[in-house]
Amino acid sequence: MSQNIETLLIENRQFEPSDIFKKLANVTSIDLDKDRLEFWAEQAKKLHWFKPFETVLEWNRPYAKWFQEGQLNAAYNCLDVHLVTHRKDKKALIWEGEFGDVRTFTYEELHQEVCRLATYLQNELGVKKGDRVTLYMPMIPELVIGVLACARIGAIHSVVFGGFSASSLRDRLQDSKSEVVLTASAGTRRGKPLPINDVVEEAVSQHDTHVKHIVVVDTLKLEGNFSSHQAEPMMSEDPLFILYTSGTTGKPKGIVHTTGGYLTHAKYSTHAVFDLKDSDVYWCTADVGWITGHTYLIYGPLSNGATCMMFEGTPDYPEQDRFWDVIEKHKVSIFYTAPTAIRSFMKWGDELPARHDLSSLRLLGSVGEPINPEAWIWYYEQIGKNRCPIVDTWWQTETGGIMITTLPGIHLMRPGHAGLPLPGITASVLMPDGTPVTQGGGLLSLMEPWPSMLRGIWGDNKRYEEVYWKTFSTYFAGDGATIDADGYYMILGRVDDVLNVAGHRIGTMEVESSLVDFQGVSEAAVVGMPDDIKGQAIIAFVTLKDGYLGNVALEKEMISHVSKMIGAIAKPKRIIFTPDLPKTRSGKIMRRLLKDVVEGKPIGDVTTLGNPDVMTLIQERFLS
Ligand code: WTA
Repeated sequence: MSQNIETLLIENRQFEPSDIFKKLANVTSIDLDKDRLEFWAEQAKKLHWFKPFETVLEWNRPYAKWFQEGQLNAAYNCLDVHLVTHRKDKKALIWEGEFGDVRTFTYEELHQEVCRLATYLQNELGVKKGDRVTLYMPMIPELVIGVLACARIGAIHSVVFGGFSASSLRDRLQDSKSEVVLTASAGTRRGKPLPINDVVEEAVSQHDTHVKHIVVVDTLKLEGNFSSHQAEPMMSEDPLFILYTSGTTGKPKGIVHTTGGYLTHAKYSTHAVFDLKDSDVYWCTADVGWITGHTYLIYGPLSNGATCMMFEGTPDYPEQDRFWDVIEKHKVSIFYTAPTAIRSFMKWGDELPARHDLSSLRLLGSVGEPINPEAWIWYYEQIGKNRCPIVDTWWQTETGGIMITTLPGIHLMRPGHAGLPLPGITASVLMPDGTPVTQGGGLLSLMEPWPSMLRGIWGDNKRYEEVYWKTFSTYFAGDGATIDADGYYMILGRVDDVLNVAGHRIGTMEVESSLVDFQGVSEAAVVGMPDDIKGQAIIAFVTLKDGYLGNVALEKEMISHVSKMIGAIAKPKRIIFTPDLPKTRSGKIMRRLLKDVVEGKPIGDVTTLGNPDVMTLIQERFLS
């Protein structure tokens, strides 16, 4: 990596939150002079500690210890603390199943369920503090109960997304050496049963895991009142969970998060970024199998006493307006989803959200990929009705919580720009040699340790040091970014995906955004193809909105549009129209596989793809 990444996309539109939003916001000002560690100590003290901490941070690069003498319990902070307040009878969870069935739990009821399962795990199965428990379940309330039951007894939970195959589950069971698996009798997806429990049986069938017990949580009939169950006091640095992230290459990494620091940031960031109030109905659409589901469906909102919406289904079943139906029915006020979903909604058309009353919404969020400015504007106008601030939140499984975004009651929003580092977080855009860029493009780095940072990769410290701490002396996020004169960050995509055209390093996001800006385009992914003259030529894969047809004339127009919008250097050599792009199960575009296609290589590992069939079609279209 010799040269730096350039900036091409100029996005000048900006939006301001309304005066009333600003006035009522949870955070209305930032004290820039506040000492960073003092700031975090103050946030940590908002949690309930069984024993207070003395040291805020001990830092032996790259190993951090936050609030180390303190003792607390994460589940206690999500449930018990509310039982002595008006929130005891408040709804903690509103769950809607794929068929429209609804179950709700007050804080008291959720506490009771968690205590029952915690008692069962301890007394019947002998699960102890530090033991690993894997959860492989659909999006049902029992998954939240299972996670919190583990936290309550100090078992380290490892949630594996319910869409992964038996062999992916087996790898994760082996790596974590889990002795207990929590699963469910069955889930459903698009009206069809998901054979969740069968997958677990298959994963353990070769007897090469450590699994001793498989608990089918939804059919387990636990009776009795266990609400006096004592939550295990955990040291602040005791692991809370492992979460495997496959990334775009290689063996999955078991990202380890600990208790006190993680929960401090989860609670603080949910309060500040989502502006959560007691009256809100908060819906994060992420699956609990991803970090977003951990931090912003469970730990963040529950530690703040929120009412959380949890939905089992998909956005297009039974119809493509299902999300808007859920928002209308449950009067959702805060909605947090991913760009891939937003681009699908754009593709399906404006009439679908228009059919529903979305007036309960007051704040929107986005996470997981760069949101192209056109998709941002669509979200703002068609869903938020020009009324709701959008928080574009940049973070990673490794960071545990949101790092860069706008605070909805303070900052101007700029489509495509995530925003600024949160209070307490320090970031920079660096040149390959580690010098900071004051304005322009480069590599994103977090400059100082933060409470919810990963503490390592389960069982593999060497890999931890190599992946995150070898490039720079500070944390290397693996993303390209730009910073502008106001300190706003725009995320350009993964560094592995960066294009190199005639000596210019160009982030994928900018070229893709200019394609999405073209009428009729819903999604785009660009990759570099080896080229004798330019080093790489840009090949674009484009999905059109319903009702548009891809042809040579359109291809030409689109190429000249990109050239006009961001410059001739970024002009695609070819555009391939495809009904879908390869995506991971969490919805991220897998450019690496498209690169295999344009390089004429056999297509690489597709096991992390949610839609593996699309690759054959894409290959055919590329060769035709
Ligand atoms: C990308 C998800 C641009 C980025 C919380 C990051 C984003 C990776 C954004 C982490 C955003 C996430 N804008 N890119 N707002 N949010 N990313 O571990 O490349 O599933 O490094 O965590 O997603 O993905 P992960």
